[in-house]
Amino acid sequence: MSLQEILSKATKEHWSTGHFNASESDQMRAIVKAAKEVGASAIVGTSEGEANHLGYEVAVGIRDGLRKEFDIPIFLNADHHKSVEAAKHAIDARYDSIHIDLSALPFEENVRGTRDIVEYARSKFSIFNFQFSIEGELGYLRGDSKIQKEKIEVKPEDYTNPDEAKKFVEAAGVNRLAIAVGNIHGISLDEPALDIERIRAIRAAVPEEVALVLHAGSGIPEDQIKAAIAAGIANIHINTDIRVAYTEALRKELSEKPDETTPYKFDEAARDTLKNLIVEKLRLFSSVSK
Ligand code: G3H
Ligand code: ZN
Repeated sequence: MSLQEILSKATKEHWSTGHFNASESDQMRAIVKAAKEVGASAIVGTSEGEANHLGYEVAVGIRDGLRKEFDIPIFLNADHHKSVEAAKHAIDARYDSIHIDLSALPFEENVRGTRDIVEYARSKFSIFNFQFSIEGELGYLRGDSKIQKEKIEVKPEDYTNPDEAKKFVEAAGVNRLAIAVGNIHGISLDEPALDIERIRAIRAAVPEEVALVLHAGSGIPEDQIKAAIAAGIANIHINTDIRVAYTEALRKELSEKPDETTPYKFDEAARDTLKNLIVEKLRLFSSVSK
């Protein structure tokens, strides 16, 4: 099944796929291992920073190797690519999916740049012989993927407007839409309060074949995650939660075994922690056996 087919199944059946970020091959493997364990497909994301660290072509090569080894659907997404050039680079490297994030630009410029990527991906279809899935973003998502030290206030104007969302997806031609509904990247000081009604209104306004994406899934209480899925979210992004779990496990291992210098031995606990947390998230999203 293609990513689009999986997402539209998720939308219709009210469950969500999970998108997890990675910056090392070990983390990519842990994400795929978790998906295999619960019978889900794996969506691995690399932000521009993560992709530059791994290397775009290297990330694609690891994905291909993991597909052979695990024999499950694996999709590689260029997450939050904030320039048309970087997004084109990811398409040329044969990522499966692009999140072109021009949400900081005025509406018309956001549409124009996003549309540019949709057309570029379509023009490559006959050469590469596979369908890309393209995500655009509308609304303002604050924060970044770390534990926030200061309070971040979400303003009413940050939220995605349902009428604009409809216009945006129709004009830009995207397959997925990232929305701002009270979510904040990173683990915030205050408990986030998602506007579930707003998700419902955006879902009603946007054509059914366009999947809704909830970014900044870390630190959101489970009941809100479940309510967001019931309201129409089909893809949830998690980065900070898994970064923190991985780093804490690694720190613990390094301090408990100061003489261990073999990387694949001292990072084993961190890889397992990462995998187990992703299994938990996939269960929460009702992605099991999907
Ligand atoms: O695109 C990545 C995500 O939105 C991650 O957000 O770090 O808050 O989990 P998070
Ligand atoms: Zn995000």
